[in-house]
Amino acid sequence: MTGAAWEASADLVVVGGGVAGLTAARAASVRGLRVLTVSKGGPTDTSTQYAQGGIAVVAPRGDSVGSHVADTVAAGAGLCDEVAVESIVAAGRQAVASLRDLGAVFDRGGDGQVSRTREGGHSTRRIIHAGGDATGAEVQRALNAAGLPVLFGAAATRVVTDSGGVVGLQLLSDKGAGVIHAPAVLLATGGLGQLYACSTNPAGATADGVALALRAGAAVADIEFVQFHPTVLFSPGGVGRRPLISEAVRGEGARLVDGNGDSITAGVHPRGDLAPRDVVSKAIAARMRELGADYVYLDARSIPQFAQRFPTITASCLAAGIDPAAQLIPVAPAAHYQCGGVVTDLQGRTEVPGLYAAGEVARTGLHGANRLASNSLLEGLVMGERAGAAAAERSDVRAEVRAADSPALRRAPRGLVQRLMTEHASVVRDGGGLAGAAGELGAARPITASSVGELEDSALTLTARVLIAAALKRTESRGCHTRSDYPDTDRAARHSISIRMDADGQLRSDALELAGVD
Ligand code: SIN
Repeated sequence: MTGAAWEASADLVVVGGGVAGLTAARAASVRGLRVLTVSKGGPTDTSTQYAQGGIAVVAPRGDSVGSHVADTVAAGAGLCDEVAVESIVAAGRQAVASLRDLGAVFDRGGDGQVSRTREGGHSTRRIIHAGGDATGAEVQRALNAAGLPVLFGAAATRVVTDSGGVVGLQLLSDKGAGVIHAPAVLLATGGLGQLYACSTNPAGATADGVALALRAGAAVADIEFVQFHPTVLFSPGGVGRRPLISEAVRGEGARLVDGNGDSITAGVHPRGDLAPRDVVSKAIAARMRELGADYVYLDARSIPQFAQRFPTITASCLAAGIDPAAQLIPVAPAAHYQCGGVVTDLQGRTEVPGLYAAGEVARTGLHGANRLASNSLLEGLVMGERAGAAAAERSDVRAEVRAADSPALRRAPRGLVQRLMTEHASVVRDGGGLAGAAGELGAARPITASSVGELEDSALTLTARVLIAAALKRTESRGCHTRSDYPDTDRAARHSISIRMDADGQLRSDALELAGVD
């Protein structure tokens, strides 16, 4: 007996019900494992639900695995693990085929073939999409319809380990504190967008998986690379989850201009408005600073039948009083994607036996210093499948949580964390600002989390500390990480920074080798 209000057992507990989590749960279930998926929200409270552009997958004509790999590596600014990139990209077609077998329907053109669009950093049209700009919603619908058992409204509080690895998971639900005895836990909790005042991520993107993994002894890497999406609908005073204006809008011909009608990206990059995201976000931030403006514009008026091609975006714009077919759309960069995360191998294993991670929370080496557009649903599908399959290796391990305690966590108020991160760890950073933010976060108070909100705040506080520590250590500019005090890329810094947490809460960093990089 553990003293918990409720107990259950499973062969695998999956934390998170988005693309990676449900794909993993399915892969493990078909291998005969008793799988329980837990999600702190409801069936569509996932980042997957909000993904617009699509899934990057090698096109049947005029494309190749080599070309998709080259685009991914170019976007990743020297920090992709090329073995991981090749492996994940090459598995894309099979992963999409499995999703279609589950019932996912992708858009087709007049010729009956699956339509493909283009996004920043891609050399060709290889992005498949659904419902125009509602690809994530279709992926989520298809996976939800698979009917896997999910315990909604249950937040993970701690991965419990003993000397042999994982033995279970502690949770908080409306039935109180609970324990699931299990030899394997798979983190698929999504990202960290709620570290910032404005983000494209839903309210649940509070870095839970990063914090759970660090507290269980696993390493995180590349966490300083937070991708800011260049085109998020701007409204004065708007905070929280903000509507995304998919990069596919630029893929179909929209242009980024400032208030004077001048191009934002002319002369910045050979691919102009379809340069990799870090380049475009930096160009917008620089123009906003130069003009003292809070936003720039996306001119999509040349796109025929905009409302049919982009119904979700049209609805968001109309709700803000803008007709995108006739008016310029005000946009600004906002936090969008966590490029790094919990370090895993190419089967989703962390270094803690029995702890797996997949999707945005994980760092496989696919994204490096900047994720290529629409590679995230791809990674969630491929790595979800592999991690779910890998968890079967623990099915003969007998696991039992012996006592459920309430670990002391450190929490800073969410408003403070978001203000510090938005002011000092956004598109452009500097050492003074980062060090000041680290000092303020260092004063976070120990608590015993008794609500999901407090638990989330403690995950955000820990992740902010780790992200700032890595950003301070990276004394160069690369990919999504721009230091105004170190504006150049340093060849000697071409390695990932991995961070672990000691039992006494101290952070320790190491350089992580990249495979396939000289
Ligand atoms: C977009 O549609 O622009 C977002 C797609 C992505 O983040 O991969």
